[in-house]
Amino acid sequence: MNIQDAYNEWSQLYDSNVNRTRDLDAEVTRLLLKGQRFPSILEIGCGTGKNTEFLATLGDAVLAFDFSEKMLAKARQKVTASHVRFEQADITQPWNCADDSFDLITCNLVLEHIENLDHIFAQAARTLRSGGQFLLNELHPFKQYGGTKARFERGAEIVEVDVFIHHISEFIHAAEKNGLKVLKFDEVWHAEDAGKPPRLASFVFGKD
Ligand SMILES: C[S@@+](CC[C@H](N)C(=O)[O-])C[C@H]1O[C@@H](n2cnc3c(N)ncnc32)[C@H](O)[C@@H]1O
Repeated sequence: MNIQDAYNEWSQLYDSNVNRTRDLDAEVTRLLLKGQRFPSILEIGCGTGKNTEFLATLGDAVLAFDFSEKMLAKARQKVTASHVRFEQADITQPWNCADDSFDLITCNLVLEHIENLDHIFAQAARTLRSGGQFLLNELHPFKQYGGTKARFERGAEIVEVDVFIHHISEFIHAAEKNGLKVLKFDEVWHAEDAGKPPRLASFVFGKD
């Protein structure tokens, strides 16, 4: 199903569905960033604001992009702090941000919906300040090889959202091509995942 339409529909249930990947991502993001401060943060694909709420406690200014107006509406209800700004934007287009303007960029569970990784890494590299970090958590491709993909329930029907598989090396090569370095890489399991493939691929990239 078309990604934007799917998330507009899913927005009503996204926060209340059982979703281990969503919950694990929230946990990992908090562990990775806890205790740090950032003057300026950009979150791409903020959804209903699950992580924006946390980023608001770390940043002096937070800008959050998503192309689904209904996901954004939920996020705006959740996060009302005046230093947080939500903007409807398609991240496959050039980002409407100045060069060297963010100390942290975050992207959580979004790039399975984006075909061209190079564009995302090029925009992140352009808009990060020197010394800045790009935190990326994605559904691990091992889960995708086994058929796991973003999906939600519409009554008795399961609706699958359009996805692309990106191998771990693709993320690393796209970063390298755009001058970003891998500072940290982890594969993460949910407590219920024992004996199964890792659920999340978690990267922190840095700009010199
Ligand atoms: C699985 S949700 C993740 C939301 C949030 N980051 C989280 O971790 O809960 C994916 C989000 O990416 C957004 N998204 C997908 N493609 C996008 C695009 N091209 N531009 C902007 N947002 C996009 C969707 O609208 C949706 O809100």
